[in-house]
Amino acid sequence: MPVTIVVGAQFGDEAKGKITDFLAADAQYVVRTGGGPNAGHSIHLPEGVVVLHQLACGVLRRGVTGISGPGMVVQPMKLEEELRALKERGLFRGELLLSDRAHVLLPLHEIEDAWEDALRTQQSPAAGLGTTGRGIGPAYSDRYGRWGIRLGDLDRPATLRQRLELLYARKTQLPNLPPREQLASTLIEVGSRLAPYIAPTEPILWEAIGRGDRILLEGAQSALLDIDFGTYPYVTSSHPTSAGALVGSGIPPLAVDRIVGVAKAYSTRVGAGPFPTRVEGELGEYLQRVGGERGATTGRPRECGWLDLVLLRYAARLNGFTALAITKVDVLGGLPEVPVCVRYERPDGSSLTDRPPTSADDLGEVRPIYERLPAWGEFHPRRLERLREEGAGALPTELRAFLSFVTKETGVPIEFVSFGAARDATVRLDRGVPGAPPTPSVRRWKG
Ligand code: IMP
Repeated sequence: MPVTIVVGAQFGDEAKGKITDFLAADAQYVVRTGGGPNAGHSIHLPEGVVVLHQLACGVLRRGVTGISGPGMVVQPMKLEEELRALKERGLFRGELLLSDRAHVLLPLHEIEDAWEDALRTQQSPAAGLGTTGRGIGPAYSDRYGRWGIRLGDLDRPATLRQRLELLYARKTQLPNLPPREQLASTLIEVGSRLAPYIAPTEPILWEAIGRGDRILLEGAQSALLDIDFGTYPYVTSSHPTSAGALVGSGIPPLAVDRIVGVAKAYSTRVGAGPFPTRVEGELGEYLQRVGGERGATTGRPRECGWLDLVLLRYAARLNGFTALAITKVDVLGGLPEVPVCVRYERPDGSSLTDRPPTSADDLGEVRPIYERLPAWGEFHPRRLERLREEGAGALPTELRAFLSFVTKETGVPIEFVSFGAARDATVRLDRGVPGAPPTPSVRRWKG
């Protein structure tokens, strides 16, 4: 079966864009299935860095169609700008389709996002979510409240004006909204320029599945930010899980044969919410600096911490990972040791090993218990060269031990290891971690 889902296994920013771009070399379609301009997928091409916010990375490759799928909330003016910038740089090499079912994220949603987070913070500083400010929560609220406008409505001026009127009638609490008619005209103009790309995308994908084409579902945000299964309320407003990728694309479950979870060799989090393995002080700043941990969308510094196997085991079960991609292993190269959280201790002395407590407050109170693994050396240019030439066989012994440990602890084989930002800084482990006992098949969690 031809469908692969790529899911972020932590709190976002695991370099999913990089892994999806790597896999896109063998695909005919790449579909973004949720989120909107809150995402920032950085891809390092020989021509320079590209940050994709609302476009799927398939648009960067000849012969590949990038689809902004039905589950997304799309800010059309920003999307047009992203497309224009790519075209100007000569990097728009694939094809583009925009689902007519994707919802339109409006400038008023951005205003509402700021207004809502200010209100929360005013009520209590701890209630602020630290969203990306891109209007995601309000756009999804309108979608599920059935107040929304869809991309397919942009070429129906009468419907569009009617829907806007309704929406404005509901947003009277918001300050400084753009004049309604001016917004309607802008949307109709942008819509007419985007019209060649807007289409029902699910029948195209069903036909592609029938032909045996390869389709990648490119997750944005990550499992621990899922609206239901993440650290609510410190989450995004979509379902960045494997199940969400299906709803967000219109692809049926049995068409999927591979679900790749992407995790960094350490952890980061941006925005509010509990982060048990956070590292304070110099070491945290070291990871932030060496890992270049700053938001690709907002520029906010990301807090850094150690790999959390409790959350990774949870993400593995929730999403049914068939493989893991471990990224940014080079960032830990040269540390004296590599701590990995293997379980949580709760205030009552009990332990949790494979799921976080449901309540974010309770997660904020756990104590992470670490196992300390031997560190591997720095990734000098000679090592990088050998990795590019010889592949996985050139991975340092201690790193192989780390990877075997993660596989043993999660029950999921590691299929990709990435050690730098460049497109070719990824190796594939077709036969498991070299020198480690084989992982014959994915251990199915029995609960
Ligand atoms: P929203 O998605 O803008 O509503 O933000 C909700 C939470 O998700 C905030 O903590 C954000 O920092 C976080 N978030 C949203 N998108 C991303 C992302 O692409 N990477 C990392 N964190 C994100």
